[in-house]
Amino acid sequence: MATKPTLHVEVQLKGVNESSTSKQQVANEVAEWLKENYIYLNVGQQISHDEDLSGGVIDSISVVDIDGSSIIEAFHHVNEVYLDVHVYLMHENNLAFIPTSDHQEERDSTTPQMRELILPNRELVGVWEALVFEDSGPKGLLRYTTRMMNFIAQKNLDPLLFPWYRLLLVHGPPGTGKTTLIRGIAQRLAIRLGNRFTTSRLTEINAQIMTSKWFGETGKLVESMFDQIFKLAADEKTFVCVLIDEVETLAGSRERMLSGNECSDGLRAVNQLLTGLDRIRLQTNIVVFCTSNLLGALDTAFLSRVDKKLLIDLPTPRAAYEILRSCLNALLTCGIITADENPEYSEFPSIAEIVIWYDLPDSLGYKLWTIAKRSAGLSGRALRRLPLNSLAMYTYGDVCTIEEALSALSKGVEAEISGNNLSELSSSVVDLRMDV
Ligand SMILES: Nc1ncnc2c1ncn2[C@@H]1O[C@H](COP(=O)(O)OP(=O)(O)OP(=O)(O)O)[C@@H](O)[C@H]1O
Ligand SMILES: [Mg+2]
Repeated sequence: MATKPTLHVEVQLKGVNESSTSKQQVANEVAEWLKENYIYLNVGQQISHDEDLSGGVIDSISVVDIDGSSIIEAFHHVNEVYLDVHVYLMHENNLAFIPTSDHQEERDSTTPQMRELILPNRELVGVWEALVFEDSGPKGLLRYTTRMMNFIAQKNLDPLLFPWYRLLLVHGPPGTGKTTLIRGIAQRLAIRLGNRFTTSRLTEINAQIMTSKWFGETGKLVESMFDQIFKLAADEKTFVCVLIDEVETLAGSRERMLSGNECSDGLRAVNQLLTGLDRIRLQTNIVVFCTSNLLGALDTAFLSRVDKKLLIDLPTPRAAYEILRSCLNALLTCGIITADENPEYSEFPSIAEIVIWYDLPDSLGYKLWTIAKRSAGLSGRALRRLPLNSLAMYTYGDVCTIEEALSALSKGVEAEISGNNLSELSSSVVDLRMDV
């Protein structure tokens, strides 16, 4: 018998305190209630629920994702899917920099500052949803990590037979959403693993700051970084998701360092990193995500420990369309762009809708598609910035029409491509001389 696809449903509880009803109990009740009250469910659906369901502890129910092969329908029959209901409490913003040493004098020199967030956190709501990727790699990474965490813990697998370093690497050009993606994955992981852990934390380390601020001390800093991670993970009911951003500064190729006569600080950092990663292998409640722009510069021993690599490339034209469209629709909603008297539509259509309804070259959706195709080579970061930047640059009133907005966006894209030679470094600078 074929395995049913899994439909993921997230249930947010009210308040921030644990209720007397267990998460598992709420999950079972919601699954039963959905089966009794719904025939079809679709991804993205917000479910309005009975106020007294599960004793009134539920804030919201959302259908968030589906896993399983060859699923193309928008609606899923509840009897033909496995309903995986994840129950969680949302935490408020509680960003903090935590020192890794208890001694003040040590803190100033050898303490990596780690940014910490209790998960799931309101700060990260919508982060995953706002990212547009055409291929399924990011979703696959979330699914892979969740399943590996479950396999390793539930089946008590021997780490000698099944080595899993808990090390995932997301790499690709600048501004393609790597760091944001990992934050989004961390939030989702915390929700999906919520029945196994009582607390989840995201610990962010910026390798660049670590190496530049305390030059000469990097090896020690990496060591104390791992000590801190182990301290956080001492309670096996705590899930610790670590993000090491720009890992190439800590895990640069030692071969290159030696051939370039570089100082031993970098070598010590890589050695400490590898030692730390080897220790983490046996800890079932930690997972480490790294990002890098420079895959080729990474140390081979580090790379050999990476369990999964994910390349995040520049957006395809369809992804670019979706990014621009979401920005323009938000500008329509807040009234900076106004629909015409006889609007073709009050929000920009999806690509699928363009193919069916708006494939005439002078339709507004088609014009946006043309702009999206033209913006090939720009990063997600540049694309997200373009709509508002272009309005600021190329329109003159407080509000503008859709036509004016598209014309401004088209100019903005041209300026970005020609004036800045597609370079992410200079793309933040809009050349003010272009328009005058
Ligand atoms: N694929 C995408 N879909 C939607 N938005 C995106 C995408 N890629 C990037 N962005 C936007 O760009 C911003 C910057 O992304 P982020 O910092 O995660 O990129 P990065 O790949 O980590 O960059 P860098 O390599 O410079 O560190 C995000 O806040 C997001 O708004
Ligand atoms: Mg980044």
